[in-house]
Amino acid sequence: MSSPCVSSIVGTGSYMPEKVLTNEDLSALVETSDEWIRTRTGICERRIASPEQATSDLAAEACRRALDNAAMPAAEVELIICATVTPDMFFPSTACVVQGKIGASKAVCFDLSAACSGFVYAMQVARQFLNSGVYRSALVIGAEKLTSLVNWKDRNTCVLFGDGAGAVVLKADDSADAPGRVLSAVMGSDGTLVNLLKVPGGGSACPTTAENVEQRLNTVHMEGRETFKHAVTRMSAAAEEALSRAGLKREDISLVIPHQANLRIIDAIADRLGLPSEKVFVNLDRYGNTSAATIPVALDEARRQGRIKRGDIVLLVAFGGGFTWAASVLRW
Ligand code: ACO
Repeated sequence: MSSPCVSSIVGTGSYMPEKVLTNEDLSALVETSDEWIRTRTGICERRIASPEQATSDLAAEACRRALDNAAMPAAEVELIICATVTPDMFFPSTACVVQGKIGASKAVCFDLSAACSGFVYAMQVARQFLNSGVYRSALVIGAEKLTSLVNWKDRNTCVLFGDGAGAVVLKADDSADAPGRVLSAVMGSDGTLVNLLKVPGGGSACPTTAENVEQRLNTVHMEGRETFKHAVTRMSAAAEEALSRAGLKREDISLVIPHQANLRIIDAIADRLGLPSEKVFVNLDRYGNTSAATIPVALDEARRQGRIKRGDIVLLVAFGGGFTWAASVLRW
């Protein structure tokens, strides 16, 4: 065991299900329109997992691609953390299911629940294990089958969400200038606001019954306007704090990869940080809000599109139910 180390992203991967659900398709289900959804959210379409695909199937494919990109065999992975609010089952953890599917036989596996901030939280947790020398490598996953929690009769929420998975391979590195290095991270939570964004039924507080399923308590309930306000404030502050902890300024940012919930939230944050739109990564138009998956999917797409180059400063910033928020600065 050697210490201290730095944590570096050495591979990224993502998997989006094939089936596309457009705004037009949704307007056949609820009273809405392509125009309303586009102008209020920026979303044009989202991906929907097939009935046979569980969150672990999306996650396992994202992991295979991330491992491939890192040129690392699954058998070498020592830790798997899966951030999700749509686990395959209450238990065992989805991380354990993924371990079995990809053959990461020596990994320690667990799930992390922080809603849409889950991936950035999970990176920070994995980083503690790597920087302290406890483990040398980790797979950090953000994966969701959010459409399994959607009330398809509620136009306030059903237009927002989609399914998908992304993953990164993190490695402990002894050299201070390793590419993909995680320079800083911050996390925060406010448990007084749990009721603004939640799935009220199905857990121990409200176990599943025919009646509460009938009332759709097993689906996402959200106070959209309140969530919106807190998202802008918290994400902007978290971004500033992560930058300051990394000893950097707004001008140093090459690319921001924000949680993809609403284009108006993303624009407001870019505005507060004084960043032009070309420095802000957006794929919300094609995927909607995939909760913990949005950031690792976007990071993988940004890498594959050549939007991030060696030495670039990349800022990840997230917000979700809890409320929770988190930000992290990387030097690519
Ligand atoms: N189509 C047409 N009309 C609609 C739709 C729809 N799909 N949805 C709502 N409306 C109507 C409402 O009923 C309301 O009508 P009314 O004025 O007659 O009552 C009107 O549009 C305005 O509704 P608002 O809720 O005020 O709309 P707003 O501009 O706030 O947009 C939205 C709603 C998109 C949900 C926005 O508030 C938002 O993005 N909130 C934040 C979401 C978020 O960041 N979530 C965090 C992460 S999610 C997680 O952690 C799982």
